[in-house]
Amino acid sequence: MALYSEKVMDHFRNPRNVGVIENADGVGEAGNPVCGDIMKIYLKIENDIITDVKFETFGCGSAIASSSMATELIKGKPISEAMTLTNKAVTEALDGLPAHKLHCSVLAEEAIRLALRDYFDKNNIPYDPKEFPDAHCDTCCHT
Ligand code: FES
Repeated sequence: MALYSEKVMDHFRNPRNVGVIENADGVGEAGNPVCGDIMKIYLKIENDIITDVKFETFGCGSAIASSSMATELIKGKPISEAMTLTNKAVTEALDGLPAHKLHCSVLAEEAIRLALRDYFDKNNIPYDPKEFPDAHCDTCCHT
């Protein structure tokens, strides 16, 4: 069996929503101190709907594919749905990732969550801090 699914290869070769949104309503950056990969997410939000989303990543192929899929999954969706996006949903939508690459999809989930927190902060919208990750993931990489 191939290491990567066709969907992973497709999103890696033709990533959707790559780039920067000038004057984004929310920006989130997550990084993994172990592998050094960084993910940055930009959100445009109108009436609680994510009308546009872009990402930049300094990362591996799985990070690119995960971010591409994650942005597709939240585009046009309400904030409440984006808040519940998990890396599990992203990897399922990609038809799986090798176990040692699962942490790459965590980066996308975290960066989206942090971009939403940035939006809440900028607009004085109250939230529960426990719903948000620290700005980096140090739980999933052990090498
Ligand atoms: Fe760290 Fe992919 S190897 S995000």
